[in-house]
Amino acid sequence: MKKVKAGLIGCGDVSLRYAEALRDIDAAELVIVMDTQKQVAENLGGEFGVACTDDLDDVLSDREIDMVIVAVPHYLHAPITIRAARAGKHVMCEKPIATTVADGEKMISECKKAGVKLGVNYALRYHPASVKAGELLEKEAIGKIFNISMVLFGFKEETYWSRGYSGRSVTDWRGNRSQSGGGVLMMNFSHYIDLICCLTGLEVIRVAAEYGTYGSPDGVEVEDTLNATLKFSNGAVGGINASTVAHGGSGSRVCLMGDRGQMTLVAEPMKVYTTRDDIDLVPNEWNELPSGGDSALSFYCEMVKDFINAVLEDRPAPISGEDGLKCLQTVLSIYQAGREGRVVEIL
Ligand SMILES: NC(=O)c1ccc[n+]([C@@H]2O[C@H](COP(=O)([O-])OP(=O)(O)OC[C@H]3O[C@@H](n4cnc5c(N)ncnc54)[C@H](O)[C@@H]3O)[C@@H](O)[C@H]2O)c1
Repeated sequence: MKKVKAGLIGCGDVSLRYAEALRDIDAAELVIVMDTQKQVAENLGGEFGVACTDDLDDVLSDREIDMVIVAVPHYLHAPITIRAARAGKHVMCEKPIATTVADGEKMISECKKAGVKLGVNYALRYHPASVKAGELLEKEAIGKIFNISMVLFGFKEETYWSRGYSGRSVTDWRGNRSQSGGGVLMMNFSHYIDLICCLTGLEVIRVAAEYGTYGSPDGVEVEDTLNATLKFSNGAVGGINASTVAHGGSGSRVCLMGDRGQMTLVAEPMKVYTTRDDIDLVPNEWNELPSGGDSALSFYCEMVKDFINAVLEDRPAPISGEDGLKCLQTVLSIYQAGREGRVVEIL
């Protein structure tokens, strides 16, 4: 069997999910891991029994390597993707695609020019609850959507800003506006925005927003709290209500409301209410659906497998650079709306 040989760029918090996914996919092989912090690369390489380096050229000059996974701070997604494309490697890039539209466009055009695939990793699309939601929306279980709300109330500990959730790598980019591109919206809600647009086929066409930094440690430049209103291409309205300095938290949820019912995702368990009696659900009451728990690994694995199969079968990347760019445009428009205190139309 032909195996797709992969290099992993960036060995911090999220890298473990990729190393584990590549270990579990028969058609793929992790060949080398790379991080500018040598010790961090050595730790991951040692754990998975693969080569490690702190020099990107060791990965890009290796003719055996078919693809790279880019899992580095956001401002580096573009330069590394572009170098990888020029070296003839397919690229799976972590979200968000980039921190500016110009960078995202350049990544897309360079990958096209080089004839390599560019995928953007919105892993939440592969969560079992997202897949189930897609099936139910296809059957119009909740009818015509008129409201979408996305909520995240969490608390990011002080250590998050320097060590992420796992502490695998000590970095300082998350709180730096130019390096991360933003806080809770860019970091967390880009997932939810991508998910709802993918599930419903709707686009965000107009936004208004207010945001600020209220409780994060000194030096954190990005917003920790944000509220936004959204207008969708079918006329539906929606909102974002987010804070990562909410003591006690209360989690995340994405709610879709339609003229035949409602659906709540991301929160566990997934719940659906439908007034229709011709769907495989109990009508006129809340249905709690088994949604596969919170096993991040299994849905990362599905996402990586889908991209690997696209490479092997020479199909377009399942989540394209254009998908990533569309989501980034929405995120940046929300920031613009808040910054300028006005409603922003997304063309
Ligand atoms: N942490 C998570 O749970 C999570 C989840 C989903 C997605 N992501 C995304 O994954 C990406 C990485 O996030 P993270 O949390 O793993 O960050 P991190 O800071 O933990 O790890 C990033 C790693 O990249 C390395 N690095 C910096 N510059 C580099 C360069 N030029 N070449 C190679 N390596 C370099 C750093 O040394 C660090 O080890 C981001 O796009 C983030 O949004 C993270």
